[in-house]
Amino acid sequence: MPQPDSVPAADLPPGTVRRVGDWAVGNRGAGPDGDDRYFAVSRICRHQLADLAEGSVDADGCLVCPWHQSRYDVRTGEMVEGPRGFLGYHGPTPVYSGLVRLLGSIARLRVRRAVRTGDDVVVTD
Ligand code: FES
Repeated sequence: MPQPDSVPAADLPPGTVRRVGDWAVGNRGAGPDGDDRYFAVSRICRHQLADLAEGSVDADGCLVCPWHQSRYDVRTGEMVEGPRGFLGYHGPTPVYSGLVRLLGSIARLRVRRAVRTGDDVVVTD
C-alpha cells in the first residue's frame, strides 16, 4: 500500500508536527527569508519509541518528544537533549538522560527534505 508523502500546508502552521506515512513532518516557523521552514524526520523516538509525529516544535526549532521531552535537531536527526524521565516517571534523571542523549547523538533519526509544493508540504529524498 503506498504511503502518503504530503500534507496540506494549511494543516501545518508554525510549531506543529503531523504524521505523513513513516515521517514526522513539522514547521519550524519563518526563516530569514520569511518562508516557513519545514522538516521531515523518522517518527520513532530513540528513547522509548514514542511517535514523534505527536510531538511539538519548541522556540529553538527542535522537535520535542511527547512522552519525556527529549529534543531533536531536525536538520541532523541528532538528539540534543535527553529525556526527562522514563516509563511513567517524569522528572529529573541527569545521568540517565545524558546516557540516552549520547545514544541519540549516534543513532540519529533519519532526515528527509520537506518542501512546499503548491498548497502541500511534500516529503522528498
Ligand atoms: S519516548 Fe521519547 S523521550 Fe521518552
